[in-house]
This record gives sequence, structure tokens and C-alpha cells, in this order.
Amino acid sequence: MTSYIGTATSRVDGRAKVTGEARYAGEFKAIRLAHAAVVESAIPKGRISRIDTGAARRVAGVLDVLTHENRPRMADTDKAWKDDVAPEDGSPFRPLYDDRIMFSGQPIALVLGEDWETARYAASLVDIQYDKQDFVTDLRQQHDQAFVVEKPDKPHGDADKAFAAASVRHEAEYYIPTEHHNPMELFASTVVWDGGGKLTVYDKTQGVQNVQRYLCSVFDKAPDDLRVISPYVGGAFGAGLRPQYQVVLATLGALALRRSVRLVLTRQQMYGLGYRPATIERLALGASANGTLDALTHEAIAVTSQFEEFSRNDTGWAALLYKSTNANYVHKLARLDLPTSSDMRAPGAATGVYALECAMDELAIALKLDPVELRLRCYSDRDQNEDLPYTSKALRECYRQGAEAFGWKARKAEPRSMRDGSDLVGWGMATGVWEALQMPMAVRIVLGANGHAEVFCAASDIGTGTYTIMAQVAADALGLPIDNITIRLGDSTLPQAPVEGGSWMAASTAHAIAATAEEIRGELLALAKRIKDSPLADARPEDVALADGRLVSKLDASRAISIADAMRSGAIERIEKEKTNTFAEDKKHARNTHSAVFAEVKVDEQLGVIRVTRVVSAVAAGRILNAKTAHSQIMGSVVWGIGMALHEETVFDHRFGRIMNANIAEYHVPVNADVHDIKVIFVDEPDDLVNPMGIKGLGEIGIVGVAAAIANAVYHATGKRIRDLPITLDKVMR
Ligand code: MOS
Repeated sequence: MTSYIGTATSRVDGRAKVTGEARYAGEFKAIRLAHAAVVESAIPKGRISRIDTGAARRVAGVLDVLTHENRPRMADTDKAWKDDVAPEDGSPFRPLYDDRIMFSGQPIALVLGEDWETARYAASLVDIQYDKQDFVTDLRQQHDQAFVVEKPDKPHGDADKAFAAASVRHEAEYYIPTEHHNPMELFASTVVWDGGGKLTVYDKTQGVQNVQRYLCSVFDKAPDDLRVISPYVGGAFGAGLRPQYQVVLATLGALALRRSVRLVLTRQQMYGLGYRPATIERLALGASANGTLDALTHEAIAVTSQFEEFSRNDTGWAALLYKSTNANYVHKLARLDLPTSSDMRAPGAATGVYALECAMDELAIALKLDPVELRLRCYSDRDQNEDLPYTSKALRECYRQGAEAFGWKARKAEPRSMRDGSDLVGWGMATGVWEALQMPMAVRIVLGANGHAEVFCAASDIGTGTYTIMAQVAADALGLPIDNITIRLGDSTLPQAPVEGGSWMAASTAHAIAATAEEIRGELLALAKRIKDSPLADARPEDVALADGRLVSKLDASRAISIADAMRSGAIERIEKEKTNTFAEDKKHARNTHSAVFAEVKVDEQLGVIRVTRVVSAVAAGRILNAKTAHSQIMGSVVWGIGMALHEETVFDHRFGRIMNANIAEYHVPVNADVHDIKVIFVDEPDDLVNPMGIKGLGEIGIVGVAAAIANAVYHATGKRIRDLPITLDKVMR
């Protein structure tokens, strides 16, 4: 019956995106639209002793300047400022709330003008005097002040003792610097004032209903008076999970002016939002000479702000991959005078697995074992944190197919032993792991007698291809051509959906569509039975399917009624159903995706320049809904992994607590010239335990392990082990 699921279907929103028909948060029009510009703090910590907005106000075209002294009312309790994504301990950031400065780049005034250039110019005239306080922004200076946070990983045995007694040991510290998301689309909000005090908020976000609830609680609005819309998102990668400050400021502006306001952050200001926290990771691995692990210790120290405890699980992944008789995990947080750190693609895993997989490479070298062979000897068929088997785990097959596609068996073990002309050649590999999550959510389907269907839900498509896979699943479930399906997303008034994150949206939407389509089919069958001499008079609901615009008996394909005829029998033009997905509770299995990443680098020995010439990523992630968008997901992740390994670093001047490269000229990300041959393999992984359709999600798995595979390849090429990311040419030359 399936005809679209699994195929390489092009993006249904592709045309809208390339023609500019797709609108983003900063592009929606409004009558008498005012434009806002943010004034940021020049210091990282202290109080505003005086803020003089007089000169800014005197600029022609300036409508108002908002500060903590004159802004409209906002909620006072931390509870009112908590959004769905961040139930972390602490006190969420409140822009323009009071005179306190908690990080450099903090918004401290909002200039509202008739046009953007005027507002921006006037923002430069706001005069601020500060009472400065001592601050620290360097993790290296603060890590001994770090405090332990509880994580679900479960230590067992005595890892220290076993490590001391192990015949082969590897112990080292790895460092991942602060990184920023840098989506192409700038964070923006257009708040439309409709005259009656109702607001329509166009926002760049990964979750419109999260933003809607948050704004209603911050501004004490009734749910019906504030609607949040975000049909398209130009990349977010976790930066749009929590409501960002621009949506609060744009709303404040609209309330102050009683007219519509747009605020688009500058690229520089985007560095004042969340970031992947700088992290110190210590690994201590003790092995027997045969390559089994006796001791595994993973300690991580990650950055958070002074006012919230954001942390994700860096240390828990080792127990999902490798058996060790003794294991210990410690996760700590260090407070710095920075904004709160945030989710960024595969949070916790991208960093923690980088360190783990470099350490495993170093252990393989100490054991004189092939790195793939070491992983197979330590391979775990159980999640050792929970002592559970997996719903499925085709990681062995990832290693096998990845190695074969890469040509791994031709690798010479000795570093510096492979060359291409004057270049040193290095081959490295690593494992990736992520979670297979699914969330409750609803969709509404409206099926017309003409065989066209609209599918509605509040979910966002953050560029991952949600529109497209939803259209595929709906087309198959309703038995209609994909062109007859319209997907409507990104509106808080639509059926309930979680934020789009955690790689859970594919499984969640697909099962919500399947559940709703089943209701539609049931209603069509009831209508079909009312037709005189109906060929489906005796058909049971489970024995009929929707195909080619008809309700068809699965037992006898000659028994069928068209959708149009069924609706005509009830004198109706459309059927509308809304249903929430349900997943059977399964506490007996762990649910994860896995990958094996193989990388080739070529290093210019004289200049230290590193090129990642080949990557093979073999991914096991259950059923692949769309061969084309899935391939793009993993390609994009591998490219980002190249950036993480070689380019990305938010550079601070810790004397001033300021970011020195808050722009994409100096914050380096891979460009086309950095990206060479990337091969993506999806390993077959049937799984009817994870959920009925066997979907695990792909948003995050693709980046995990990539930086480690490249770092390991750089070692293999050069004989130099560089543990601090990014691996820049100065470190290779040193
Ligand atoms: Mo993702 S970091 O859950 O947007």
C-alpha cells in the first residue's frame, strides 16, 4: 500500500523557499509598522547607574525608547518566565527587567522608530553609565568552582581502583570551545497590533505554542488574545527552542506604542543568545590486553550562566556503547558571567561523544588494536545505565558497511604512514549515538469530497523536512496523490504540538497522522455502508484501506467505494477529524539511533592545512521516511561536524568578557571549498518496538562522532594528538 514513504520525495515547500514566497518572521507586513533596534550592554556584569535616552529621542522619526525604567509591565515571578523547554533550576532571563547586567551584549534599551535605519542610528546615541562588578567568563579560570549535577547515567563498581590495576590505560582531557548556532535566518519577531489589544506574533521559533504560552504568562494575556505564527524557520538548531529575547522586546514595543513592531536582531546580537557551552571532558579508560574495558570514567564540566543551570548529558553515552566492568560518571557545571548556554544540535552528545571517541582511539593505539576492532570487542547490546536491551541496534552493521564503503581495510595502522604526494593522509573513525524520542501531539485532517486533504498542526518545520514527510505519510495514509495534500504548520491556534527538537518530530507527526487518518477511514466506511447494496456492507474497519481515492477491501480489491460517493451518501462535502497520537508505554527497552563515521584527511606538512577529503557516515535510525531529505539531514550534520572539528570557536577577550568574533567572517563555518566527498549510508534497521512505524528520527544523530572521526584522522596523518577543538593549523604546526 505504501507508495510515498521511503521514497526520495523532493521538498513540498522547496518551490516556496526558492521563489521567496515562503515568509519568515521578519518579513510579514503590517500597517503602520514601527521598527526596533536593541542597545546592548558593553560590560558583562554590574548595574546601570544612569541611562540617558534624550539624544536618541530627539532624532526625527524616533517614537520611543524603552528601558527598565519606563517599559510596560511584565511578570515578576520566575515561574511566569519559565518556558516548556527549560525547566532548569534558576531564574530565566528577563530583558529590560531591571538595572542588573548579567552578560556582555545583554539588551538594555529598545529604540522604536519609523524605520530601521533611524532606530539603529538612535540606538547608538543612548548613553549608559555603569557600576561595574568583577566577572569571569573563562571556563579554565572557573572549573575548580564547578558543582555536580545529577544525571541519569549510573556508575557501577570501582572505576578508580580498576583503572589503577588495568594493564593498559589511557587518560586525557579534551576541550570543546563555546560554539554558536549561526542559522542563516536572523532571530526576528513581527508583532502585529490589531487595534483591540489582540496581538499576532510572527516569531522565529521551534515551537509556536511554547512562545504563545510564555508571552501570555509574561504579559498576562488571555490565550485567545495572542497568537504566534511561524510557518518557516531558516535554521535554528536548538537556538529557537526557548523563546528568545527579541520576541519579548518586540511585544513590549507593540504594547508601548499600541502599534505593530518588528525587531530583527543583527548577526552580532545573535551572539548574545544561547550557545553550545564550552566543555572540559576527562576520560580515563582501563583495558585488559585483549581489548575489553575494565574501567571507564567520564567527567564533564560544562558552562552555564550565573542565573540558570542549563545542562545536558555529556557523560551518559559511554554506557550506551561500551561494556565496562567498572564505570564512573561525573557531570559538573561552572557558572560564568555569560548568557545561559543552550541546546545545540545533539546537545551533550556532540561534545561528550567527541571526547569519548577520541579517547577510544587513543586506547586502541595503546592496545595496538584497530579502532573498529576495539569497538567491536567492547560492543554492548544493552544500555548499561538502565540495564535494558535496545528496540533495535544495527551499529555492528554500521561499522561493517561504513568500513567497507570507505575501504578501511587498506588502512596502515602506523601514524604518518600514508601519503598522497606531499600530503600526509589520515584515516580515522568514530561512533555516533543519539536518542529515538517521540512526543504526544495532535493533527487535524480535513478531507474533501474532491480527494484533497489539509493536515493541520502547530508543529514547526525548522528546515528538517517536516512538511515533506508529513505530506508523504498523509498521502499514503489517505491513499491520495501527494499533490492533493496540503500541510499547514506553525500556528499556535492549530492542534497541539511540542517544540520541534530532540529528533522527535518525524515519529510524532507520522503517528498522529496515522491515528487521525484511521478515524477518517472509519467515518468513510460508515458512510459507505449506507449506500444501497454497498460492496463494503459487511467490511470490518481493519479490512479496508484508502487507496487511489477510494475505500477498498483488503480482502477483495473489487469491493470499493470512492471517497466522493461515500461523502455523497451522507450529503457531506468534507470530513474533519482531530486525534492525538498514542504510543504504547515500553519501559523494557532503550531507544537509540547509532552511526559509524569514517573520515579521511589530507594534511599539508609544510603549512598544516587540513582538508577533510572523504567522509562516510553509516547511520542506523530505523525506518527512513524520505531518502532525499534524510540524506540531506546527514550531509548537513557531517558538514557541521567538519566545522566543529576544524573551524568553529567563539573567541572571547576574557579581560572584557566580550566575544571577539561575533560575525560569520571571523566565526568560521565550513564553506563549499571545505566540503568534499560525503557518502551517507542508511543501514537497514527494521524496528517494530520503538513505535508501530519504526521511525527513530534523524535531526541530530548525523553530527555525533564526526568531529572525533576527523580528530582521529588528523592524529593518524600527523602523529599529533590535538585534543582541544577546533584543530587549527597553528596547533598542527606547534
Ligand atoms: Mo534540537 S538541539 O533539539 O533543536
